[in-house]
Amino acid sequence: MENLKNEVLNQIEDSLDKFIDSDVNFILKIGNYILSSGGKRVRPLLTIGFAKVLEEKNIENLIPLAIALEYLHTASLLHDDVVDGADTRRGKPSANNVFGNEATVLTGDYMYATALNIFSTYGNIDMIRVVSDAVKKMAEGQLLELKKIAEFDLKEEEYFQIIDGKTAVLFGACCYVGANYANANEDLANLAYDYGIKIGRAFQIVDDILDYISSEEKLGKPVCNDIKEGKVTYPLISIRDELSQEEKDFIKNVIKTINPEEENILKVREIVLEKQGHKKAFEKAKEYVRKAIQNLEEFPQNIYCKELKQLAEYIVEREV
Ligand code: IPE
Ligand code: IPE
Ligand code: MG
Ligand code: MG
Ligand code: MG
Repeated sequence: MENLKNEVLNQIEDSLDKFIDSDVNFILKIGNYILSSGGKRVRPLLTIGFAKVLEEKNIENLIPLAIALEYLHTASLLHDDVVDGADTRRGKPSANNVFGNEATVLTGDYMYATALNIFSTYGNIDMIRVVSDAVKKMAEGQLLELKKIAEFDLKEEEYFQIIDGKTAVLFGACCYVGANYANANEDLANLAYDYGIKIGRAFQIVDDILDYISSEEKLGKPVCNDIKEGKVTYPLISIRDELSQEEKDFIKNVIKTINPEEENILKVREIVLEKQGHKKAFEKAKEYVRKAIQNLEEFPQNIYCKELKQLAEYIVEREV
């Protein structure tokens, strides 16, 4: 991914705060707090990557759109940390922890609106359709997840409905915008969208694995938070049928409990890892990466195509 990163990441970083220009100081403060705290910038890379794979030479007006897509992601993180009661993000105290829930939610709203506003200036109606649909689905995904808290028997298809909404649709929209900007026909732009959905699924599955196997030090955000919050994710789903009745009852009880004991959270993790839930989830994520890479066969086989393939592979290799 080196070419793509070297060519665009600086441009994105340099202008990242350019459109957060409210007269209300608090918005600037919270907005800049989260925007300057790092992040992998995967979504803007996807957008620029799809324009470049289609040999678009002038990406000047695509940079604001890529930034807008990072704003949508950032807004979703602000809201997510309130919903998940998370106190760290990107290795720092989360915005809700520093500025409080109310101001954090409202700054998230401001960033959502700013992003859509940027699209009305630099984008087109097809992009606005796909992006606003993604924003709707992100809210639906998060709400569905909330509704399914503590549901031990969450169906696999319900899990995918949740992760498609909260994560994959934005990945899809990022890819679509890049392809559309490069004047791809609708079939090709949809294939780009579909690549995004597939790596987005893989991305969230890996995020859910990291919640089980990583550390807060490494990730810069809480671990075991899904168990703590009663969220049933793929590592657990993949081994659920192999559990004894006693193990099932124990896990059901922990995910139903508000603020369960640390010791019990760790015991759930131990059971899932002992049954190889993380490995089974990795296999599922890899399957989606393979499928995503197949979509790239229809694109020009240039250096950027290779980089999009690497980006897909990186998703299952990443440790943060
Ligand atoms: C975190 O996204 C939220 C999920 C969709 C899993 P990222 O892992 O892309 O977060 P940053 O932007 O790099 O911090
Ligand atoms: C991703 O789910 C939600 C968003 C799209 C923001 P998580 O709640 O698992 O994300 P993290 O782990 O807090 O980054
Ligand atoms: Mg979260
Ligand atoms: Mg969440
Ligand atoms: Mg997570």
